[in-house]
Amino acid sequence: MTSSLSPRLLACCGFVAPGDRVADVGCDHGYLGIHLLTNSIASFVYAGDVNEAPLQSAVRNSQKYNVQNKISFFLSDGVGNFPRDFDTMVCAGMGADTMVSILDAAPWLKDPHYRLILQCQSKIHYLRKYLSEQGWRITEETVLRDGRFLYTVMEVVYQPGYTLTPGQWYFPPALLENPAKELPEYYRQTVFRLTRAITGQKENANPVMVQALQELATNPDLQFLKE
Ligand SMILES: C[S@@+](CC[C@H](N)C(=O)[O-])C[C@H]1O[C@@H](n2cnc3c(N)ncnc32)[C@H](O)[C@@H]1O
Repeated sequence: MTSSLSPRLLACCGFVAPGDRVADVGCDHGYLGIHLLTNSIASFVYAGDVNEAPLQSAVRNSQKYNVQNKISFFLSDGVGNFPRDFDTMVCAGMGADTMVSILDAAPWLKDPHYRLILQCQSKIHYLRKYLSEQGWRITEETVLRDGRFLYTVMEVVYQPGYTLTPGQWYFPPALLENPAKELPEYYRQTVFRLTRAITGQKENANPVMVQALQELATNPDLQFLKE
């Protein structure tokens, strides 16, 4: 159960610490948790999904890979029905709106004990804004390619006092800590999309988005990404 995991989910697994008890929220097929167990990374996995059909496929896959003794399943909206004795929550393959509603419904996650590994599919700037406003700090973030697309995976802990500026919602400082080779492309893609969105707004350009774009264009720390 190594080669079949997508680069995107492998990157999420790379953030899990050895021995972690992991909650996989929106587990679908269950492959992330199964990989963590067959590779002896996690000590136990809670796998949950809001829909019955994917959850049942995860149950079957756990039997197929013989890890059923180290994984429990929960039909659950977010972590609503999960036990709370895990260390790391992985939430992958969802949009920002879903992730925000999952976090809003579980204020008990705001405890420095928990680490969140988030791989957001859409409106990621909105997720970073929300995290920053709610006292979550992005401690690490990386960019990777999977097929035709670039994805980011972030590690988040509850540590109030690290607010992000509008430009950092689009390109957070954590991305610069261990620059991935895809980073210049991610920067150019982010600037392109933001420019296109602002241009589409014509004379009603959103001033916060304009400020974000200006930050991305002028931040001296980002200039090397243009070369
Ligand atoms: C696109 S799949 C991603 C599956 C896997 N995490 C991945 O990244 O490949 C999204 C999964 O999240 C589940 N899901 C959506 N909203 C959810 C919620 N609020 N709570 C739990 N699961 C949810 C869906 O049923 C689906 O199985």
